[in-house]
Amino acid sequence: MNGILIIRQPKTKDEFESMYDLRWNLLRRPWNQPKGSEKDEKEANSIHFIALLDDRIVGTVRFHKIKENIGQIRYLAVDNNYQGKGIGRNLMETIYITAKNQLFQYLILNARETAVPFFKKLGYKVIEEGPLLFGQIKHKKMLLKLSRTDLKLQKIINNLRISAKFPNENPNAID
Ligand SMILES: CC(C)(COP(=O)(O)OP(=O)(O)OC[C@H]1O[C@@H](n2cnc3c(N)ncnc32)[C@H](O)[C@@H]1OP(=O)(O)O)[C@@H](O)C(=O)NCCC(=O)NCCS
Repeated sequence: MNGILIIRQPKTKDEFESMYDLRWNLLRRPWNQPKGSEKDEKEANSIHFIALLDDRIVGTVRFHKIKENIGQIRYLAVDNNYQGKGIGRNLMETIYITAKNQLFQYLILNARETAVPFFKKLGYKVIEEGPLLFGQIKHKKMLLKLSRTDLKLQKIINNLRISAKFPNENPNAID
C-alpha cells in the first residue's frame, strides 16, 4: 500500500460528514436506504475511528459500551478501492486497544455473512444467528473475549499511572 495509513478519531465537522458518507455509500446506499439511515441514536455516546490514507478517509468503525465490560462494534467499512490492504484489520486492532485500555472483557458485533471470515481471522467466534437487515442481509452475532494477560497487564499499567501521580509532582523536573 502506498502512502501512510493513519487511524484516529475524526475531529472536524467535515471529517464526521465524510465518515458518515462512507458508511452510507458502503453499508446503506446499495440497499436503497435513505441518507440518515447510516446513523443511530448512539452516535454521540460512541467512539468513532477513521482510517486516513493521504488525507483521504478510506475506512471507519464505531465502538460503544452496551453493558459493564461489554463493548459493541458497528459500522465497519473500508472503501471498495482500498479493501484487502489491511485497513479493516488496523481499524479493528485500534478498537481492541481502546477496549483493553478501558478494561472491557468482551467485544461483540453483528457480522454480515460475507464478513464473517474476516472477523474469524481476528479471533471472533460466531455465538448465534444475528438480525436480518433490510429483509435480505443475514448476520451472525460474533464475540471476542479479550486476552486475560492483556487485561492483567493493562490493570498494572493503570495502577502505575495512578501511583505515579504524586501530589507534589514538579512539572518542570528534568529527571
Ligand atoms: C469486511 C471489511 C471491513 C474488511 O476490510 P479490509 O480492509 O478489506 O480487510 P483486511 O485487508 O484488513 O483483511 C484482513 C484479513 O482478512 C481477510 N479478509 C478480508 N475480508 C475478507 C472476506 N470478506 N472474506 C475472507 N477473508 C477476508 C484478508 O484477506 C486478510 O487476510 P490476511 O491477514 O491473511 O492477509 C471490508 O471488506 C468492507 O468494508 N466490506 C464492506 C462492508 C462490510 O461488509 N462491513 C462489515 C459489516 S459487518
